[in-house]
Amino acid sequence: MVKSDIKDIKLAPFGKRKIEWAFSQMKVLQSIQTRFKEEKPLKDVTIAACLHVTSETANLAIALKSGGANVFLAASNPLSTQDDVAASLVSDFDIPTFAIKGEDNKTYYKHLNAVLDEKPQVTMDDGADLVSLLHSERKSQLKDVYGSSEETTTGVIRLKAMEKSGALKIPVIAVNDSLTKHMFDNRYGTGQSTVDGIIRTTNILLAGKKVLVCGYGWCGRGVASRLRGMGANVAIAEVDPLKALEALMDGFVVRKISDALKDNDLVVTATGNKHVIDTSHLKFMKDGIIIANAGHFNVEFDYDGFVKQASKKRELRPFLEELTISGKKIFVLGEGRLINLVSAEGHPPDVMDMSFANQAFAAQFLIKNAGELAVKVHKLPDDIDREIARLKLETMGIEIDKLTANQKKYLESWTEGT
Ligand code: ADE
Repeated sequence: MVKSDIKDIKLAPFGKRKIEWAFSQMKVLQSIQTRFKEEKPLKDVTIAACLHVTSETANLAIALKSGGANVFLAASNPLSTQDDVAASLVSDFDIPTFAIKGEDNKTYYKHLNAVLDEKPQVTMDDGADLVSLLHSERKSQLKDVYGSSEETTTGVIRLKAMEKSGALKIPVIAVNDSLTKHMFDNRYGTGQSTVDGIIRTTNILLAGKKVLVCGYGWCGRGVASRLRGMGANVAIAEVDPLKALEALMDGFVVRKISDALKDNDLVVTATGNKHVIDTSHLKFMKDGIIIANAGHFNVEFDYDGFVKQASKKRELRPFLEELTISGKKIFVLGEGRLINLVSAEGHPPDVMDMSFANQAFAAQFLIKNAGELAVKVHKLPDDIDREIARLKLETMGIEIDKLTANQKKYLESWTEGT
């Protein structure tokens, strides 16, 4: 058997069926896998991936392996692993996997180091932890790395900060910046799966609830619109005046966090930032408020700070904790970790289809252009992005019109007017 550190290999049969079901919904990835099998564009390249270990990620790993790569997978969050999927990857697909749901921080980093020990030429991140490790504790490996790809907004923010400060030493593809990624995954994927995670954790009725969404980027927009669709009264907190204005004109109430905490039943953070809700906000919170995070890292609200202030803490349901703070009850979900992957299964396969098509193309792009790319954060070329959208429409059986020659000419000219 291949190397691994997983919960229980006996979980594999159920994981395999979940992987098969997800695959049936990932038609773009299916077509990439078919092509990869024939062309082997990733032949003999070692790819270390640090992604949420879900049935969708399993299909990406299988597609990369079909393309000839040696794939090593570690979890990108201590609570997001689907242990049955991890077991199936090892037992049915011979993909070395290092991921256990509930692993502590030490094990999390042991797993990241295990995939980097394989001396990858390409790394794949969801949150930039592999790149960060390569640039801090494993610098000697950087010269052998063609480049890395990054899945999420938070990771791209970190990488752009590295680029700006001159710390970045390898080219990176910001998969998140493809339109076929953030317009769909961040909005519809985070929107639906965050609502799913909140419901699975709490079983509350959303209709009629007053909900505050912090952040109105692509993820915040998705979360807000899906909560509104369930009948919640949604308010938005934003620091960017443009996004605040957009939220207002999309029909949401825009409020300051300290005001909204006084009368909202549920708060969801989706900002990519740190301590958006911290201990200084505790005094404003309504008794019985529920707090969840949809952003990548567990720092968006100060979970540790809240726990320190609590005179009592108990778990009422899996990933639903009651904190008693100054006589008030505050309910926190998923220890502040991204609730859609902690309590639910993350984004649905139909949308991860496009995100992971971007990852597969990014791996191919990094290998094809090895040694040629500037050391900076790149986007995938626009024609690849459009090709993924075209493929997605095709697999959905949707046809669209084409510009006529006359229309093309009109768009390229400037002489025709009134
Ligand atoms: N990020 C969000 N949802 C995901 C999923 N289902 N699989 C992998 N990464 C994800």
